[in-house]
Amino acid sequence: MAENQNQPAGPDLALGVSPGDFKNDMLLGHFGDQDVLVVRAGSEIFAIDAHCSHYHGPLADGLVTGHDIRCPWHHACFDLRTGEAVRAPALSPLSVWKVEQRQGRIFVTQKQEAPKAKRAPSDAPRRIVIVGGGAAGFAAAEMLRRDGYGGEIAMLSSDSAPPVDRPNLSKDYLAGSAPEDWVPLRPESFYAESKIDLKLSTNVASIDAKARNVTLADGKTLPYDRLLLATGAEPVRLPTPGADQKHVHVLRSLDDCRAIIANAKDAKRAIVIGASFIGLEAAAALRARDIEVHVVAPEQRPMERILGPDMGDFVRALHEEHGVIFHLGDTVAGIDGKRATLKSGGRLEADLVVVGVGVRPRLALAEQAGLSTDRGVTVNAYLETSAPGIFAAGDIARWPDPHSKDNIRVEHWVVAQRQGQTAARNMLGAREVFDAVPFFWSQHYDVPINYVGHAEKWDEIAIDGDIKGRDCVLRYKQKGRVLAVASIYRDVDSLKAAVAMEQA
Ligand SMILES: Cc1cc2nc3c(=O)[nH]c(=O)nc-3n(C[C@H](O)[C@H](O)[C@H](O)COP(=O)(O)OP(=O)(O)OC[C@H]3O[C@@H](n4cnc5c(N)ncnc54)[C@H](O)[C@@H]3O)c2cc1C
Ligand code: FES
Repeated sequence: MAENQNQPAGPDLALGVSPGDFKNDMLLGHFGDQDVLVVRAGSEIFAIDAHCSHYHGPLADGLVTGHDIRCPWHHACFDLRTGEAVRAPALSPLSVWKVEQRQGRIFVTQKQEAPKAKRAPSDAPRRIVIVGGGAAGFAAAEMLRRDGYGGEIAMLSSDSAPPVDRPNLSKDYLAGSAPEDWVPLRPESFYAESKIDLKLSTNVASIDAKARNVTLADGKTLPYDRLLLATGAEPVRLPTPGADQKHVHVLRSLDDCRAIIANAKDAKRAIVIGASFIGLEAAAALRARDIEVHVVAPEQRPMERILGPDMGDFVRALHEEHGVIFHLGDTVAGIDGKRATLKSGGRLEADLVVVGVGVRPRLALAEQAGLSTDRGVTVNAYLETSAPGIFAAGDIARWPDPHSKDNIRVEHWVVAQRQGQTAARNMLGAREVFDAVPFFWSQHYDVPINYVGHAEKWDEIAIDGDIKGRDCVLRYKQKGRVLAVASIYRDVDSLKAAVAMEQA
């Protein structure tokens, strides 16, 4: 993923460059041994780390909007003046450098000092409890501290591991191409240093919205002034006979992923049940481990409901090129040891089965606490639930999306993180509307699919470019209005589509 870091990029920026050398208002060079991107934003010139702090995406291929630069790969956004990661999925800031203009040339002179720590409002609540140690919960805790919140933060997670980069669990880590130290969002020391009281393997049993406390499964209670509910979703488990055996897995947590990897070590054949994003990403990862993979799913085309028929055909062909064998229009009727029987009557042998048939939002706590729910926890534009002081974010939250003008709930990593960040600021009293355009990405072998917006249905898909050639933009339209845009290797178009939706 990273470009060659040993060779410094472009010209030595300490020696100065000419404004005429800029391309698309950007110029990639180096300062000392660091790759630095010089950016023209209106009449101002900035210099910033050339690589995104998420997965090292090349910012030179991104998009400048106002005083921000957006990463081409997963749409993180950095403030060019301070380097702050203002939009997830990047959470860590980038370095910025001082720039001088002399005799018609531009010189990078020295690294700028890190901006001063922020201060939370003096009337900030004393105790914040976050239920969930996933994308939304972690992003909220991190943002609270970044915004200078000095009160107590307790993060309660039923996971046994500190917050992880969940998308990696169906991609590089599962494929064996990423080491385990890529998986935690932060090292364990971060929590103590940031005074975040992270309680792992801790189940919250109930919330008393009137008394403002939560009760843990072991009976202990914890008071809060503000609560963030970020319990995410859980994989749907199949009622199929035999689906409770040890070699039949779901994939949500690091523990799930480790169990699949352990099983994969001596597996020769695998069945993936479900042709969803996670199912097919898992199929690709298992192929990378040289395991024969059969995908069984009831639909006729993978991902057609979300991406349409042409992209569905492309995804199927892509997986077939890599040796995946599809059994579409079929389901697994039973699993007896290593033998799976299909509804069509066919039989498959498998040492390993991964079930990826969708997830259900974890609503039990919200329902028990008497919060309004509607196929998700209902929140307002500030991500506050029907109970004052309780906010919700991530896979459980159904929010009023100003772009689709609908109340929507999605299962996207970046949306969960951004909601966590907005909820954090709103728990401190900011009253910030959550208006981010939904974004997700999915990776199959070397092909990334990016998606912005939200289209549950459409009456037209306008295809620009060549899907098979892996160079395309698909616009999902309803009555001529673009609701969502999917793309392959058209990163700037994807970023521009997000900006256009923000401004619509
Ligand atoms: C393998 C995998 C790959 C993915 N890849 C992508 C991708 O490429 N792109 C993308 O956009 N999205 C992807 N997603 C989806 C994305 O990870 C989710 O949308 C995101 O994690 C949702 O964040 P969340 O905070 O709402 O929930 P989660 O991240 O699931 O976190 C929920 C947390 O709540 C805790 N919890 C639940 N109930 C309780 C309780 N009662 N008490 C205490 N703690 C509780 C859980 O233990 C967990 O820590 C992927 C998901 C998976 C599983
Ligand atoms: S690499 Fe930049 S957002 Fe992921």
